[in-house]
Amino acid sequence: MSAEVKESVRQLTEQLKAEHNITPGLAVVIVGDDPASRVYVNNKKKACEAVGFKSEEYALPAETTQEELLALVETLNNKEDINGILVQLPLPKHLDDKAVIAAIRSDKDVDAFHAVNVGKIMLGEYDFLPCTPAGVMEMLHSYQIPVEGRECVVIGRSNIVGKPMGMLLLHENGTVTICHSRTKNLAEVCRRADILVAAVGIPKFVTADMVKDGAVVIDVGMDRDENGKLCGDVDFENVKDKCSFITPVPGGVGPMTIATLMKNTLKACKLQHGISE
Ligand code: GUN
Repeated sequence: MSAEVKESVRQLTEQLKAEHNITPGLAVVIVGDDPASRVYVNNKKKACEAVGFKSEEYALPAETTQEELLALVETLNNKEDINGILVQLPLPKHLDDKAVIAAIRSDKDVDAFHAVNVGKIMLGEYDFLPCTPAGVMEMLHSYQIPVEGRECVVIGRSNIVGKPMGMLLLHENGTVTICHSRTKNLAEVCRRADILVAAVGIPKFVTADMVKDGAVVIDVGMDRDENGKLCGDVDFENVKDKCSFITPVPGGVGPMTIATLMKNTLKACKLQHGISE
């Protein structure tokens, strides 16, 4: 699915170049040397190449100051050949991620993390959707999994995934519950789910007893198991025979996140040039 989305973005990018002589540009900023962030950023760069975007990477040392980072964001805000700006999170602890996100021009905020874009999503009228939840919705659509009227349980309430995920499911008339570390009877709540989205960041947190027979299980986790091997928030081996659909880690939600980022960057570019879809 992610290959299909990227292929469609590639074709539209080719068309944009041919008709308007414009190449979309994405700037990715990474501060410090978090290994998971490094992998994400490399994958984003590769995807840009595959769809024909210009990509710029700004790898800053962990000691970068808030002022230096804000100055870079300002430079990118004003750079005409850059249509999308992504500051990879998490940032080192001494940096204020909220202030950095607020400094990104909202029409270049291809993550949809800026308050203006978050607000638009709440109102149901948006230009960009956050990449991971949008990628999940695209998977549900593609497999014709209905959301309307169904019990949708999201585990995790982050601004990146949990909260917007709940909102997108709500927009499609799901009955949404967002669970978190203080939720009582978590397993019981999860067992109600027709669609269960795990975005909690704990390896193999969702066990078979938490999943209803025939449920759809979406795993947003990117964790390491006891042997250091990449795994998700769901105990895949034990859950897979119980559910009707399940996404693997790696190779599930992650590639869809990146495909959505490509879609958002193309859209940002078109909006900035006043080109309609
Ligand atoms: N860190 C984990 N996921 C994301 C994402 O989608 N965007 C950014 N900027 N940072 C992340």
